[in-house]
Amino acid sequence: MTYVLSQDALQQIIQVAQGFYARKDRAHDLEHALRVREWGRKLALEEGADIIVIELAALLHDIGRSGAVEKTHAESSAGLAVNILQKNGYSEGIVKQVKEAIISHSREAGHEPKTLEAKILYDADKLDFVGAIGLGRLFTWAGVQGWTLVGENSCEKFYHDRICSYRDHLFTQSAKAYFDPLFLYMEGFWQQLRAERLKLSNSGQADTI
Ligand SMILES: [Fe+2]
Ligand SMILES: [Fe+2]
Repeated sequence: MTYVLSQDALQQIIQVAQGFYARKDRAHDLEHALRVREWGRKLALEEGADIIVIELAALLHDIGRSGAVEKTHAESSAGLAVNILQKNGYSEGIVKQVKEAIISHSREAGHEPKTLEAKILYDADKLDFVGAIGLGRLFTWAGVQGWTLVGENSCEKFYHDRICSYRDHLFTQSAKAYFDPLFLYMEGFWQQLRAERLKLSNSGQADTI
């Protein structure tokens, strides 16, 4: 038997989450949380995980980003999520599992995903940073950070340093299978960008006197 959140329960959590996500960082907004929920449901079905825990964790996983130090946002999101779920009458077991998943969805605070649900949330979050959606989020995030296209503190550097290493850290086979074609699309974009820049700089040199 597969249990999912009822429409009422879903809307209740979305409504609360919306308030936290209503800020200028559009790379980590409610839309991102909803897509992570979709990825999470897909992976949970394939991996046999608890869908309700994953749906709740996905919807609330970045609510602590607003005003928090980025590195510890997983911890602040987890704390806020616990309060929200307790207020809405969720069982101790669900609250504990959701907390565990949220706190380890970003490795920057030093928590490793241990449960299957935590691993799936981790993977689902990374899947939203590849493909055309991933590129859109990358440039949106660059706007928040003030990054240039290439060079130090740039979109290209974030792509190389972070996104390119995501594949090695994914936990589930299902996530790896979804990741590969999306990553290839993204890699194609950067190859095209390098080719365009090279062509432009070469064509400029011919006119120099
Ligand atoms: Fe996050
Ligand atoms: Fe996220």
